[in-house]
Amino acid sequence: PAQHQDQFKKQAAEAALSQVEGGVIGVGTGSTVNHFIDYLATIKGRIDGAVSSSEASSARLAEHGIPVLDLNASGDLSLYVDGADESNKALQLIKGGGGALTREKIVAAASERFVCIADESKLVSVLGDFPLPVEVIPMARSYVARELVKLGGNPVWREGFTTDNGNLILDVHGLQIMEPMKLEQGINNLAGVVTVGIFALRPADLLILGSASGPRTVT
Ligand code: A5P
Repeated sequence: PAQHQDQFKKQAAEAALSQVEGGVIGVGTGSTVNHFIDYLATIKGRIDGAVSSSEASSARLAEHGIPVLDLNASGDLSLYVDGADESNKALQLIKGGGGALTREKIVAAASERFVCIADESKLVSVLGDFPLPVEVIPMARSYVARELVKLGGNPVWREGFTTDNGNLILDVHGLQIMEPMKLEQGINNLAGVVTVGIFALRPADLLILGSASGPRTVT
């Protein structure tokens, strides 16, 4: 049930606090990260601030009095904490359910360590049951959708949604992603694609899963 799932998210978020060593922390987006932000507030004196991957997370950080910093002024970050929509055992992820995938990928790329927090239902053997988000430049929407069909997917336009960057999202259904790195590269190379929600070229370094038997880690 949803209530348990939220408890598991909270558990993973709390466990991630032990990964925080100070400095500037990269902070992702979503309901699990919202719990993490609330826990981070309890140790805010130990950090210099946060670089955020979305307007929503920036607002929550600011409410807690945690300084929100510009990535361009922060250099590389030691730690990035974010959720995921799916993870496989190699810690390759699908992200972007909340539509913040581009900034998430940038902050992940600029961070030495990426700790992913989730409830245990997010761990899967093959990525792709969760529709794969792809952020596209508006004029390329139909072209990219046709190319995604050629790759075996069924893209659905997330109508009425605009990303923080002013772009659109195609959610690609029906994929069984057997080679995540190859598909990430292939979709990245389509003209008009800004970001694909596969995080395989830069996977997570540590996955913390909340579960009925307590938090467990996968590396
Ligand atoms: C945001 O764009 C996503 O990548 C989130 O990280 C993902 O949707 C996880 O969300 P929850 O923590 O709400 O499950």
